[in-house]
Parts: sequence; C-alpha cells; structure tokens
Amino acid sequence: MALTVRAAPGYDSAADALRKALEARGYRHGGAARLVLETGDHGLQLIREDVHPALRLHLDFPAGRQGYRLAHAGHQREGLIRAFGKLPRDGHVLDASAGLGRDTLLLAAHGFRVTAWERHPVVYRLLADALARAATHPELAPVIQRITLLEGVAEPTAVSPPAMAAVFDPMFPERAKRAAVKKDMQLIQALMADTADPDGEQTLAALRGHVERRVIVKRPLHAPALGPDAPQASVKGKSVRFDLYSATGPAEATAASG
Ligand SMILES: C[S@@+](CC[C@H](N)C(=O)[O-])C[C@H]1O[C@@H](n2cnc3c(N)ncnc32)[C@H](O)[C@@H]1O
Repeated sequence: MALTVRAAPGYDSAADALRKALEARGYRHGGAARLVLETGDHGLQLIREDVHPALRLHLDFPAGRQGYRLAHAGHQREGLIRAFGKLPRDGHVLDASAGLGRDTLLLAAHGFRVTAWERHPVVYRLLADALARAATHPELAPVIQRITLLEGVAEPTAVSPPAMAAVFDPMFPERAKRAAVKKDMQLIQALMADTADPDGEQTLAALRGHVERRVIVKRPLHAPALGPDAPQASVKGKSVRFDLYSATGPAEATAASG
C-alpha cells in the first residue's frame, strides 16, 4: 500500500512521525500514490488527487451534518439508539467498527460510555485526530470524554466487566456503479484494498459471547443477514437495517471461533 504523507508549512515533524507510524504498519510513503494524507492547521485530511475535482475527507465533528445531528437532541429517534433498546443511559457499550466515528459519536451523545476499535491505521488516525480536536469544543467535550478509541482489531474479551451491548458495522461491498456511494465512502474504498470485512461472522460471534445483552449489526437495507443465525429482530431505516442478536455467553463464542 502506498500513500503520500504531506506536511503543511510548520508540520514537518508531525508528518515525519505519521510516516514512521504508518510504515510500521505496512504503508510505503510513495510519491506516485493516489492518496495523500495531509497534516496541517486543520488537522489530518485524506485527499484523492487522481480525480477531478479532488476528493477530500476531513472529519470535523462540531461542524456539518454530524454536528447538527449531535446538537439537535432527538437521539432517541435514531434507528441505532432504538436498536440498543432500554439500556441505562450511562451504560458501557462497544463499537467494533469505529470507521469515521459517526455511530460512535451518536452513542456517546446519547449518554453511553463507548469503547470503540478501528483496525485500519489511516482511518484510525483520521478519527483519533478528529476526536482530539473535538475534545476542545465546549459542547462536544463531555461527549468525547465518554469515548475510548483503540487502534486494532476489536477485542471484546479484553473488556472487563463485560459491556452491556455492542454495535458492529462491517464494510459491505458496494456496487461499483451505485451513484449514491457517498464521497467519504469513495475515499475509504480507495484506501482499503478490500471493501468487505471478511471476518465479520467471527467478529459477531466474539461480540455475542462477551457482552451482557445484545449485539446490533448494521446492514444495507436489503443485504442478507451476517452469518448463519437469523437475527431476533430488526429495526429498519430508509437505507439501513439494524439486526439484533442476543448475547450467547463465552462458551459459544469459543466454539464459533475454534
Ligand atoms: C462501514 S465502516 C464503519 C462506519 C462507522 N460505523 C461509522 O459510523 O463511521 C467499517 C469499519 O470497521 C473497521 N472494522 C471492521 N471490522 C473490524 C474489526 N473486527 N475490528 C476493528 N475494526 C474493524 C474497518 O476497518 C472499517 O473502517
């Protein structure tokens, strides 16, 4: 994988540190790469320059659609929050696929304490950088404080005592020609060689084995369910569906992964 890491004036040492961290995770710093990760005054942004106009991904939680969604209460109406059911508002939940952090933030804005994992090194850094910037925003700071973001594969077994519930939103292969693929997802797809998370079934089994109550899997509305078990119920939105699975306990999780 190749990616150009570029520094705005004054950010050379930050870019150097970023290059080293990404190289340690298998990235080459290449001049001819399609993707540029730029560090500067506004934090990190990912840019795809081989298309015109260039595509930019800059996560800015206080602004834009996400900021609006967080500022205007109404979290209760969001399908994801309804899928979590009647859990204590300050309970601990897991997000096994943090991605661009939209669901993580929604859960934390609702009041949950969230442990979230992201295994893609560039996606993790974009999100960690955006969370760090949002932590200084007066309204968002208390929300950000409820989030623990970890780099790597989701490890529900490492969470003790077990969390109440978890959400899992694996990548789903989009049809290449679908016009509706959002710009930020186009960038993420360019970043990831494989646009599916092939170990989704094992992740679901591990989560079900190590949470107290339920796991919610987010799927495109008409996609098949993940794995062999039918979900106990589904909450449907306009374009996505939240499939609900009850917790199984550790024994079944071990059997599923072994
Ligand atoms: C569809 S995106 C998630 C989008 C996210 N729900 C949001 O609101 O922005 C899927 C992400 O989950 C990550 N992922 C998938 N399986 C994972 C796992 N087992 N552990 C950690 N990260 C995972 C992928 O790297 C990818 O960035």
